Amino acid sequence: MGRAEGGQRTVFSCPECGASAAKWQGQCPGCGAWNTLVETFAEPSAGRPKRFAALSGTSELQTLSEIEAREEDRLPTGIGEFDRALGGGLVGGGVVLLGGDPGIGKSTLLLQALSAMCRTRRVLYVSGEESGQQIAMRARRLSLVTDKLRLLAEINLEKIVATLHTAAPQVAVIDSIQTLWSEQLNSAPGSVAQVRECAAQLTRLAKQTGIAVILVGHVTKEGALAGPRVLEHIVDTVLYFEGDTHSSFRLIRAVKNRYGAVNEIGVFAMTDKGLKAVSNPSAIFLSQHGSDVAGSCVLVTQEGSRPMLVEIQALVDQAHGNPRRLTVGLDAQRLAMLLAVLHRHAGIVCFDQDVFVNAVGGVRIGEPAADLAVVLAIVSSLKNRALPAKLIVFGEVGLAGEVRPAVRGQERLREAAKLGFTRAMIPEANTPRQAIAGIEVIAVRRVEEAVLRLRDLE
Ligand code: TYD
Ligand code: MG
Repeated sequence: MGRAEGGQRTVFSCPECGASAAKWQGQCPGCGAWNTLVETFAEPSAGRPKRFAALSGTSELQTLSEIEAREEDRLPTGIGEFDRALGGGLVGGGVVLLGGDPGIGKSTLLLQALSAMCRTRRVLYVSGEESGQQIAMRARRLSLVTDKLRLLAEINLEKIVATLHTAAPQVAVIDSIQTLWSEQLNSAPGSVAQVRECAAQLTRLAKQTGIAVILVGHVTKEGALAGPRVLEHIVDTVLYFEGDTHSSFRLIRAVKNRYGAVNEIGVFAMTDKGLKAVSNPSAIFLSQHGSDVAGSCVLVTQEGSRPMLVEIQALVDQAHGNPRRLTVGLDAQRLAMLLAVLHRHAGIVCFDQDVFVNAVGGVRIGEPAADLAVVLAIVSSLKNRALPAKLIVFGEVGLAGEVRPAVRGQERLREAAKLGFTRAMIPEANTPRQAIAGIEVIAVRRVEEAVLRLRDLE
């Protein structure tokens, strides 16, 4: 263990996972990431026991049946799409982590939500990033009601905790957790130790007092919440803001929720009057082509309880040198796998081609049901032939070349029919028992069959 000036011990800790080592190492002993260890001050051990205090009040032994199980009271935020992502609204004593890239709209959304709530509830906005004046100016520009919206511009955790006790709000926003610092620790704001300690203390406070707390967290360029992956297990709900900052659409996705379903999403559009909910978002991720173009395939993806149509675009082009494989909004490893399956089972060769695949609109698609659409977009671009008009596709592709069913196939088909699509190439196991009006189903079992069937369709 090193010793810094003034005799303080230093350790090397990983901002990704919070693990620490006495000596510098190339690889983090906790998460195995390379070159992530940075030198920080070791925390004085006197502060330690407190940190292990239970997050919620401890009590005697009980059986589950003795504990009164009631539905949590929800505090609606006044913004329908936000409530949807939260699983119905905030919960008293619940802690929500709202993560996202800088500038994506976290502060804007929370200001709008607090303004909507402040009429009926006591709310408090704690800002460590912007001055009161900046926030007031933004509120004025957005024409928000703010007469009961209380603001505290502060980064000292102890002062914030004291204010939360005296002001006793029902809802508190902390913008952002990375700016806070606790006097008990020596490390700088934003360091793993500080972020973890501040979040743990605020969580304890939320459980004790029943305040619903929303923590804002910035995401680093690697996509992990800056340092504090460690926060994800402390809080009750983790929401991420997604979207391409160049387009106006923004998605909020729940990736963890102790009070509701995960992967539920809320959809917004960023306007000059702040974030506006998009209540019928199923078609926003379709690009508006005049005519059908090669390399484009429409996927129906299921996001939480809502099907959405997303255009998948592929560009396959002669490689010069090492062929490149690039994805935007999709998993790059999965693309490599799909190219191998295409080669092995359908005889389609791409090893001398650059392959780029993009999900339109900055949406991120994690579900494997996107596979078949990716495959068909690649085939379409490689052959330079547009897919048939008004066709939608979904289905997972396995390593053996089989096309596997996707969840909620019927709902996907119905949504596509509603938006005027007339044909659907889907896994055979998803064939609806009763035909869905307006949509012709082309059921496939294998990837080579899907490629062959395309020819008959043209
Ligand atoms: P902000 O909420 O400050 O982002 P975050 O807190 O996530 O860092 O959002 C800032 C961006 O949003 C900024 O680039 C401008 C844009 N914006 C609008 O387009 N319209 C608006 O009404 C507001 C308030 C912001
Ligand atoms: Mg902000």
